[in-house]
Amino acid sequence: MANNATLKVDNKELTLPVVTGSEGEKAIDISKLRAETGYITFDDGFGNTGSCTSNITYIDGEAGILRYRGYPIEQLAEKSNFVETAYLVMNGELPSPDQRAQFSRLLTQHAPLREGMLRFIQSFPRDAHPMAVLSATLNALGAYYPHLASNNHQRDLEHFDEAAAIAISKVRTIAAHTFRVSRGLPFNYPRPNFGYCENFLHLMFSEPYNEFAPTAEVASALNLFLLLHADHEQNCSTSTVRMVASAGANLFASVSAGVNALWGPLHGGANMAVIEMLKNIHAEGDDGTKFIAAAKAGKGERLMGFGHRVYKNYDPRAKIIKTSFYKALASLGIKDDPLLNIAMKLEEVALSDDYFVSRKLYPNVDFYSGLIMRALGIPENMFTVMFAIGRMPGWIAQWREVAQNPKLKIYRPRQIYTGATMRNIVPINLR
Ligand code: CMC
Repeated sequence: MANNATLKVDNKELTLPVVTGSEGEKAIDISKLRAETGYITFDDGFGNTGSCTSNITYIDGEAGILRYRGYPIEQLAEKSNFVETAYLVMNGELPSPDQRAQFSRLLTQHAPLREGMLRFIQSFPRDAHPMAVLSATLNALGAYYPHLASNNHQRDLEHFDEAAAIAISKVRTIAAHTFRVSRGLPFNYPRPNFGYCENFLHLMFSEPYNEFAPTAEVASALNLFLLLHADHEQNCSTSTVRMVASAGANLFASVSAGVNALWGPLHGGANMAVIEMLKNIHAEGDDGTKFIAAAKAGKGERLMGFGHRVYKNYDPRAKIIKTSFYKALASLGIKDDPLLNIAMKLEEVALSDDYFVSRKLYPNVDFYSGLIMRALGIPENMFTVMFAIGRMPGWIAQWREVAQNPKLKIYRPRQIYTGATMRNIVPINLR
């Protein structure tokens, strides 16, 4: 098989090395292109561009494969949990029992926020968007823990375990406290004897007079939701984290930038859009039939939560979360919810209708995750925050990969300039 590609440009022939990944993915290495020809490549949206090599996540969209560090997502969902998977994603290997216990201890130790940070969160307006508060507060961690945020990769890596545990544990506390402030409710303090997901639900929903006790199915649905979002290779927020890290920025600054990228509706907002769509269908008095007909005719809106840019047969995460979703609903006693009925109708039609089948439009992870979060009582403006909590281990792992790279170069793409050519300033009185 060819180890080189040949490019002919301006009568010059250039030999470009072929790079092959561990799963056989091939890429053409163009790193000498500009130096040798004066040309750069143009790839709007980066659809054909590998921005890095990475050992963390493997996706084959055509075959519906998602693996973290080589482990299939199906096996992790069945045999692992979010905390253990977070350790795997960040460290490359599943933890031994001792490592697992030590990691849990660190997460417990770092769950509470300093009093100053509580006041910081309280100082935001009550109607502040939780993603704005999350991003600002994660970035502020660098101010509260300056020894972990020196902006010197070597020094920051020496404290990696502590910084990573702080980010993973506190992201959940910050999110829950922001919710409490928005409702005018007192903060709850984390409970050392609770697991990661139970603690989050306690921080969100316990009252001084009534401790929230989620059913095992509900805690397990949340656990799966977080596990399934732990990493997804070079998406917009992850690439943002790597970009910021490539300048030497510390972990907290980098993941805070990731939150901002995720906030964009084209990235983290689809699960919220699913619920909005279902509400609109319900408000129109439709059971989904008219909406589907309009979507097929290209006259209405797309079915949110269906289709995927990368997964073209099915989204492996959707398959897993669907089962857990029905179990959680049963344990919560939810049977006859009008939005749920519409959702089930959309799912049934889309899985059998030729328009959707022939275009390979299957329900994606966001279709079920929006419904799960709604059933858990998470407000819609926090859906993207939940995605950020799940994605935190992935962002941290990707930051570490950049920081550990001995050949690290700052990410600095080029551009094709299309603006005005050279012109002279006309004095203001003559303009
Ligand atoms: N509903 C109805 N028709 C659709 C949909 C949909 N959701 N998605 C694609 N199509 C049609 C589209 O109109 C086109 O039809 P035709 O060939 O007749 O012109 C065909 O399917 C191919 O569409 P495309 O836009 O070329 O597909 P894409 O791969 O570029 O788009 C997508 C992927 C996810 C942007 C798109 O499917 C979509 O907009 N889905 C709804 C939004 C959504 O659920 N997004 C969350 C994705 S999962 C996020 C994550 O992984 O983190």
